[in-house]
Amino acid sequence: MGMMHEDVEEILFSEEQLRARVAELGAEISRDFEGKNPVFIGVLKGCWVFMADLVRSVTIPCSVEFMAVKSYDGANSTGVVQIQKDLSESIEGRHIIMVEDILDTGRTLNYLTKYLSARQPASITIATLLDKPSRRKAPVEAKYSCFEVPDSFIVGYGLDYNERYRNIPYIGVLKPEIYRD
Ligand code: IMP
Ligand code: MG
Repeated sequence: MGMMHEDVEEILFSEEQLRARVAELGAEISRDFEGKNPVFIGVLKGCWVFMADLVRSVTIPCSVEFMAVKSYDGANSTGVVQIQKDLSESIEGRHIIMVEDILDTGRTLNYLTKYLSARQPASITIATLLDKPSRRKAPVEAKYSCFEVPDSFIVGYGLDYNERYRNIPYIGVLKPEIYRD
């Protein structure tokens, strides 16, 4: 059992819980997308750890792409989505699985799914590690979600606060005094 990071108030999901649940999701996606050769599109940077584990538990042919967006400044959602890195391949006629770290207000994925649907993919499905449904502002639903989380600021397993804590191997709640000033 590793030690808890001093800025973390509580561990929500341990490495073991994450491993088991992500593997379950990978198996479910493999069944649902059999014969469809889906493209996983990760939304950087937060998706990176989750996506690496997820695609390694997917057993059907698939490909991997990344986009980078900026939608967050510290702990406050600005509601403004800026595309910093776009796709390098065509997605026309392809089955898209958008991979996100956390679905919060939904503004990022609402914007991205509209933006990408203009390129005429066969379908767009959302897979998120975490879902904070109580915070939703845009009409977005994740078909695949590993865990629901309460309205606290979450870090670890790829999720950051001002670029820190992404390397924590579990999911935890950040102590409020870290982001309150
Ligand atoms: P949305 O557009 O409000 O759904 O925000 C999505 C993005 O905000 C996520 O991809 C995260 O990068 C970031 N975000 C939202 N909530 C949290 C959190 O609790 N911890 C870390 N990042 C978060
Ligand atoms: Mg972030």
